[in-house]
Amino acid sequence: MTQRTLVLLKPDAVRRGLIGEIIGRIERKAGWTIGALELRTLDQDTLEQHYGEHRGKPFYEPLVAFMSSGPVVAMVVEGERVIEGVRRLAGPTDPIAAEPGSIRGDYGTIVRENLIHASDSEESAIRELKIFFPGLS
Ligand code: PPS
Repeated sequence: MTQRTLVLLKPDAVRRGLIGEIIGRIERKAGWTIGALELRTLDQDTLEQHYGEHRGKPFYEPLVAFMSSGPVVAMVVEGERVIEGVRRLAGPTDPIAAEPGSIRGDYGTIVRENLIHASDSEESAIRELKIFFPGLS
């Protein structure tokens, strides 16, 4: 099942020089390709659209502040079951709970600074790709 997913390398990944390491892990997975990629500083409007479902939760304001604290790498990743696959490669939200070998397990520190966002379902991927890459056919 070929899919597309939205991946964001968060400001901590960019600041810590982990872009190449994380993209390398994605590229090494046979059958996955990067369909679009851009370094971008996210504005308030984009973040409100992207994280709107979490508005009102205690972590919402700190998350939006963190996500606008520096550039992110926004990417479209394409391939076989890539939505589930990139989530597994990332590991759970809390890096302490993430297994060694996963991106968050190897490099994550605290929940807020967990390096990578990846769409969690087909529905989310479609919605998020429209926000970040509206020109995608
Ligand atoms: S939920 O409520 O279960 O849907 O939340 P979850 O999927 O775990 O997380 C949604 C996004 O919020 C981020 N998050 C946090 N940011 C800052 N501080 C705290 N405590 C926190 N908890 C969760 C989490 O990394 C998710 O962001 P994305 O970009 O989707 O990874």
